Amino acid sequence: MKIIQVHSKLNVYLILFVTLLVIVLPPSTAAISCSKVSSALKKNKSVDYNDLKKCLESFPFNAKLATETVDAVLHFLSNYYVFYDRAREDPPSGFTYQPVDLKNELDSIRKKKFKSDYDFTITLRNIIFKLKDGHTSIFNLCYQRFNYDQGLSLYSVVTTDKKKKKKQIIKVLKDSVDSSNNNCEVIEIGGKPALQAIIDFANDTIQYSKDLSVRFNMALAPSKSQFLRELFQQFTLREDLPETSSIKYKLTCPKKKKPFILERKWKITYHDGFDGFSYSCLEQNNENISNGKTSRDKITKSTLSNKFKTSNSEDLKIAHAKELAAGSLYLLNDKSKTGVVVVDEEQSSDEDSYKDYFQELKKHGTKKIILDMSNNNGGTITVAIFLTSLLFSSKQPNAFPTDIILNNLTISKIENSFKTNSTVDDLYNPNVYLSFPFGNHFNSSSEFIGTQKKRTSNLYFDALTSDEKELLKNVSFPWTSDDIIIITNGFCASACALISLFLSEIHKVRTIAVGGLLNDQMSFSTYPGGQIISPDTVSSSVGDKIADVPGKNVLSFTVREAYDFDQNYTAKDVLEYSYKPADCRLYYDEKNVKDPSLLWLEASKILNNEVKC
Ligand SMILES: *[C@@H]1O[C@H](CO)[C@@H](O)[C@H](O)[C@H]1NC(C)=O
Ligand SMILES: *[C@@H]1O[C@H](CO)[C@@H](O)[C@H](O)[C@H]1NC(C)=O
Ligand SMILES: *[C@@H]1O[C@H](CO)[C@@H](O)[C@H](O)[C@H]1NC(C)=O
Ligand SMILES: *[C@@H]1O[C@H](CO)[C@@H](O)[C@H](O)[C@H]1NC(C)=O
Ligand SMILES: *[C@@H]1O[C@H](CO)[C@@H](O)[C@H](O)[C@H]1NC(C)=O
Ligand SMILES: *[C@@H]1O[C@H](CO)[C@@H](O)[C@H](O)[C@H]1NC(C)=O
Ligand SMILES: *[C@@H]1O[C@H](CO)[C@@H](O)[C@H](O)[C@H]1NC(C)=O
Ligand SMILES: *[C@@H]1O[C@H](CO)[C@@H](O)[C@H](O)[C@H]1NC(C)=O
Repeated sequence: MKIIQVHSKLNVYLILFVTLLVIVLPPSTAAISCSKVSSALKKNKSVDYNDLKKCLESFPFNAKLATETVDAVLHFLSNYYVFYDRAREDPPSGFTYQPVDLKNELDSIRKKKFKSDYDFTITLRNIIFKLKDGHTSIFNLCYQRFNYDQGLSLYSVVTTDKKKKKKQIIKVLKDSVDSSNNNCEVIEIGGKPALQAIIDFANDTIQYSKDLSVRFNMALAPSKSQFLRELFQQFTLREDLPETSSIKYKLTCPKKKKPFILERKWKITYHDGFDGFSYSCLEQNNENISNGKTSRDKITKSTLSNKFKTSNSEDLKIAHAKELAAGSLYLLNDKSKTGVVVVDEEQSSDEDSYKDYFQELKKHGTKKIILDMSNNNGGTITVAIFLTSLLFSSKQPNAFPTDIILNNLTISKIENSFKTNSTVDDLYNPNVYLSFPFGNHFNSSSEFIGTQKKRTSNLYFDALTSDEKELLKNVSFPWTSDDIIIITNGFCASACALISLFLSEIHKVRTIAVGGLLNDQMSFSTYPGGQIISPDTVSSSVGDKIADVPGKNVLSFTVREAYDFDQNYTAKDVLEYSYKPADCRLYYDEKNVKDPSLLWLEASKILNNEVKC
């Protein structure tokens, strides 16, 4: 049940489409707009916004394909999406999203006539986005291939005004077009107060968290882009066609007397750069192609592609810590003997290194440990279990209980796997699971299915490989829960969320959230979900009559849910829908936004009980 990332698959699709399809240009204004897009890209030039908009919107709405798409999406979500029912309920206090009745919403677009295929696709995508579940999304392989870049990163600081009142403002972190705008305050965006504009964008447009403060951070520049695989300045770096061709900012700058308006157009490129744009992908988008669409299975990072990969390291410094391993392991320069382990992804290949890091810290006589888990969009779930086991080896269980939704098809698959003693690594094979909390094998399908309605009987995530178990042998570290603190900017997703929540809930490790909206409590993690899956994987496992979503729309969704549990190991709340704010809160300022070691120093003070939080 390994969950691995498959960024590279997207490239595979692309190559596939490019080679499979023949370019035929019909003589229409659409073709002219699309050929302008194509020729701009061939010349390494930014695409004109209006050309691209015309091109994208030129493909006619295909009612038959749209109906089949909606049918398939609703079919997969209603039968296998583990939060299908839960999504209809009001959010718990602390979260900001609207309840989503997927059946109603999807049925409502079934009857609509759309102006274009693009219009339909975006409407469908926006319904799924409302779930604010980072594992659940629909991605169009042709339309969603462009980057829209303002060349500008923004951040938010909390300052104290003359009356000692705290207020939150938006500033320019870096303008790569005109550096004289760096550090200017943004007063307005598009005629709205800047802070409000960012909050609205985070609230309405960002899908990757149920916590508005976390979405707010995702709209802006992260503090540590040095360690990043992705940049999450989603306000200024988009993956969907923006509503307007440019954005107007009202700025005040220290060196300029008067506020002024900066109007910035979107720089539009294709995918990883200028190469590879293919009109044929767009043209064929409207056809019923399901071959060539390989699985987006086993992705935890999926929906956030790595196209924004960049290094801002020249702008960043780590002035208050000594680096022991590049980007990963530090010793603070204060007297506290505090080590910092940067956990920015969960890859099996990193397990050795994590063990080495902690052993290195032990060798240095490190008394306290800060786990910086910011900007971490997950990875392999066993790495989460491995890390927990590494730090707290003796205690069992080492993961949350989880459940899969049941229906007639999955039940018959489960029963069949029992009959045949299957050992196949398959979501619906009960023989690959253990029971929670004691880790016993299931003896019968009735034990596996249990007594819950529509859910299995609490499955244990424990899936450590023999290599992992070997690595865990002979480790013993001196630190207790009190010696460790987790710091994140809320963007600790998926497998990262499951580790940080487990350490916090079960081992009582303290947590700090950085940034977000002033005066709100804030989550330290996001979309813990349970497991992401693609429809074709489910379909081929259980023998569903529908193979996949037709056309170029790739669906992924959460298939398993994780719960916290009490002292008696009784499963309690669904983690995805539980608001778990951090124990402590820090905000960004002009300095720590560029130097995370300043935040680590603050964390060290909290860890050493020098300051209360
Ligand atoms: C476009 O840019 C790429 C990479 O930056 C370069 O390899 C290629 O030669 C450029 N093409 C043109 C037409 O300038
Ligand atoms: C798409 O393919 C399916 C199965 O092959 C077929 O039943 C359906 O009619 C096709 N839809 C369109 C819009 O061509
Ligand atoms: C966020 O959006 C929802 C739904 O549109 C709205 O009801 C709510 O007031 C918004 N919250 C904030 C803080 O803007
Ligand atoms: C599932 O199976 C039960 C018992 O065999 C049957 O009564 C029920 O209608 C089936 N449900 C569906 C959705 O097929
Ligand atoms: C499955 O395993 C059980 C217990 O080991 C054994 O009794 C049974 O014969 C096996 N069934 C098959 C189909 O191999
Ligand atoms: C399977 O049977 C064994 C032996 O009776 C028992 O100890 C174990 O708890 C059972 N497994 C489950 C999941 O109940
Ligand atoms: C663990 O320790 C034992 C005894 O101290 C030693 O024999 C063994 O090689 C060690 N194993 C590993 C994996 O380091
Ligand atoms: C755990 O079980 C014991 C004994 O049945 C009970 O007294 C206690 O209240 C339970 N604790 C929780 C948190 O439910």
